[in-house]
Amino acid sequence: MYDGVFITFEGIEGAGKSTQAKILFQTLSEEGLPCLLTNEPGGTPIGNAIREMLGNTGFKDMAPLTELFLFSASRAQHVESIIRPSLEEGKIVICDRFADASIAYQGFGRKLPLTLVQDTNEKASWNVKPDITFFLDVEPAKGLTRIQNRIIELEVPADRIEKENLEFFERVREGYLYLSREEPHRYRVLDGSLGVDDLKKIILESVNKELTKRKFRKNLLFG
Ligand SMILES: Nc1ncnc2c1ncn2[C@@H]1O[C@H](COP(=O)(O)OP(=O)(O)OP(=O)(O)O)[C@@H](O)[C@H]1O
Ligand SMILES: [Mg+2]
Repeated sequence: MYDGVFITFEGIEGAGKSTQAKILFQTLSEEGLPCLLTNEPGGTPIGNAIREMLGNTGFKDMAPLTELFLFSASRAQHVESIIRPSLEEGKIVICDRFADASIAYQGFGRKLPLTLVQDTNEKASWNVKPDITFFLDVEPAKGLTRIQNRIIELEVPADRIEKENLEFFERVREGYLYLSREEPHRYRVLDGSLGVDDLKKIILESVNKELTKRKFRKNLLFG
C-alpha cells in the first residue's frame, strides 16, 4: 500500500497523451503538489535502451512475444526503480502509457492471448495499478494524421510501431475500449478530438475530484 496517486494516459499514436500528461504535470506542480512525469517504454536508462530497440525500424521481424517481453522488461525496471518508490513517498505519478498498452497493442494489436499478456503485466508491474487512467480516444486516421504532421514538423522518422497500418490501430483502439468496459472504476474515456484546452479542463476536474476524495488537498484547483 502507498499514499501516492498513480495516473496514466493511454490511447493510440497521436491521441494527445504526451500533450495532456505534460499539461497535468505542469498544473499540479504549479499548485505545489509533489508529482512526477514519466513515460513508457522508457522512464529509466535501461528502459530508454529498450525503447530504442522497440522503435528500431530495422527489426521488422520482431516476434510479438519478444515485443511483449521487451515492453515488460522496461516496465519492471520502471516500476521497481521509479514508480513504486515515488508512490511510497506520496507523490502523484503521471505516466504516459503503462501496462494497459500491452493489453491493447500486444493483446489486441498483435493478437497474443490476453491471459498471457495479463499474467505478464501482473508480474512486470508488481501489481501496481493506476488509480485513474485517461483514455484519449481518437479515430486511428486522425491520430495517424497528427503523427504525420509531427514527423514533418520535427523531422523525426516514424518508429517501428508508428509504421503499422490502420487495421492494427483499429484493433488497438478496440483493446482500450474493452479495458474501459472491464475497469470502469479507474477508466475515464475522453473524446480525443476535443481541443487541448477543453481536454485539460475535463482532466483537471477529474483529478481534482480524486485528490479531494483522498483528502490529498481540499479544493485543489477550484478552491
Ligand atoms: N486535442 C488536440 N487537438 C489537436 N491536436 C492535438 C491535440 N492534442 C495533441 N495534438 C497534437 O497532435 C500531435 C500528437 O500529440 P501527442 O504527441 O500529445 O500525442 P501522443 O498520444 O503522445 O502520440 P504518441 O503515441 O506518438 O506518443 C502533436 O503535434 C500535438 O501538438
Ligand atoms: Mg507521446
